[in-house]
Amino acid sequence: MAKNTIKGNAIPKHIAIIMDGNGRWAKARLRPRSYGHKKGVDRMIGLMEHAFDLGVDYITVYALSTENLRRPQKELDGLFELIRTRFLDCMRKVCARGARLRIIGERALLPADVQEILAQSEDETKHFTGKGINVALAYGSRAEIVRAANLAVEKGETLTEERLSELLYTGGQPDPDLIIRTGKEVRLSNFLLWQAAYAELYFSDKMFPEFSDSDLDEAIAYFSSKTRRYGKTDEQIEKGE
Ligand code: FPP
Repeated sequence: MAKNTIKGNAIPKHIAIIMDGNGRWAKARLRPRSYGHKKGVDRMIGLMEHAFDLGVDYITVYALSTENLRRPQKELDGLFELIRTRFLDCMRKVCARGARLRIIGERALLPADVQEILAQSEDETKHFTGKGINVALAYGSRAEIVRAANLAVEKGETLTEERLSELLYTGGQPDPDLIIRTGKEVRLSNFLLWQAAYAELYFSDKMFPEFSDSDLDEAIAYFSSKTRRYGKTDEQIEKGE
């Protein structure tokens, strides 16, 4: 779908994607899972560029959950190798559009050299404001919420909803408007549970490596077709209350 066929005011500011199905996509092609992850990186970059072109400001991708860290070491090594060999270049390319990169998750659980690459990528983009990319690595939403609550406890603060939002890794960013999951499963798998409170959810049967730019357009068109009432009635929304 071309840019001008999606209503300007209906573009989500923040899209989050659960990139599921790399392994099954590779298996169906009699290739190793690592091949699926490689293709997944290419698609991740392509979708980020397309989303920015459409006017999206923030993109969050779920690259590795804390639970995924229990996968066979060989598969994890393959993912870490992708970070070592491709992450800096890929992020430079996408972030050149003015986006600040944030790694969200328990990065201390990752190999030390990988942590350094991630820190360098973040550092190179820290002057950008207004647009952002969050890459969730060793991420779990419950752990993120507990971490935020503990930060408040340490400071002797009483939490409010606003304050808890600020203390999350995504503090200062708008909540995701649209969360997309590829790979046929219909669940959030401990991803952005707090931030997802009012998000539209979109589930695709496509495996992540085959989720195309026009599939993203379709997801955005689905988002655009929804009226976001935030608990109000249609009549209140029409009156602008
Ligand atoms: C889930 O598919 C995907 C992952 C655990 C990894 C996602 C990673 C990428 C798309 C590449 C981006 C990576 C980096 C390093 C930033 P799955 O393997 O669980 O697929 P399956 O459900 O078919 O087994």
